[in-house]
Amino acid sequence: MTEHLTAAPKPTPTLPDAQTVTSVTHYTDRLFAFRCTRPRSLRFRSGEFVMIGLMGENGKPLLRAYSIASPSWDEELEFYSIKVPDGPLTSRLQHIQPGDPIILRPKPVGTLVLDALLPGKRLWMLATGTGIAPFASLLRDPETWEKYEQVVVMHTCRDVAELTYGADLIAALPEDPLIGELVGDKLFYYPTTTQEASPRMGRITDNLASGKVFAELGIPPLDPATDRAMVCGSLGFNLDIKTILEGAGLCEGANSEPAEYVVEKAFVG
Ligand code: A2P
Repeated sequence: MTEHLTAAPKPTPTLPDAQTVTSVTHYTDRLFAFRCTRPRSLRFRSGEFVMIGLMGENGKPLLRAYSIASPSWDEELEFYSIKVPDGPLTSRLQHIQPGDPIILRPKPVGTLVLDALLPGKRLWMLATGTGIAPFASLLRDPETWEKYEQVVVMHTCRDVAELTYGADLIAALPEDPLIGELVGDKLFYYPTTTQEASPRMGRITDNLASGKVFAELGIPPLDPATDRAMVCGSLGFNLDIKTILEGAGLCEGANSEPAEYVVEKAFVG
């Protein structure tokens, strides 16, 4: 069961760069999502991140990079976070309530953007844990569906409950008034667990390397002519997946030089 708190936005407090938390949803004892007001001036590309945080006890802002999980058209901002018991920020951030202030530096950046990839047929979104956050944004952006014939989402967590945020989001896509029709039959969702038994198991890296995911989804193996990939997860995952993507002939791209795949580290701590 997820615990969901919500409230009408209160006026933004007078801290510099302060926004107001509008809702908080706890998924597990390790994961939660929250929404907050969006500065009118903030423009971002789906998949980018910003610095957010709280005022530290020393009076200085305590900020960390967080992917924006909401799409660029949303009037609020959404973030998805891990709770680290002794993490300087998340040990406090996990207790935020609707109406609380949150600091947001309105300078979005990042490489997990559609512009950093060359045109292709199929987009792979490869995420572990909270690495699903930038994809929560991109999956709700019409441009993603306009640019690609197929979108494959592989998300791996330790247990089933940790997949809930992504699973709920994916389940809501076909009913989405803005993109439901665009999604059509383009979406392939491949969630797996690694530590709790579930219908689909195994690390993303193993399921790609063994060919299992291609066989089960009826999709040909990775090909630099057709396939593009965006990667967001732990450091170890990002390194291991790069080896697989490079092995298949895909090259890493950037905003300045689009190519076949892009990588970003999911926020931890
Ligand atoms: P595993 O349980 O086999 O370590 P975490 O919660 O520690 O961030 O991990 C999230 C998910 O990412 C887990 O399912 C974990 O699998 C998986 N994972 C961690 N490291 C790697 C890696 N180097 N390659 C592929 N998957 C990984």
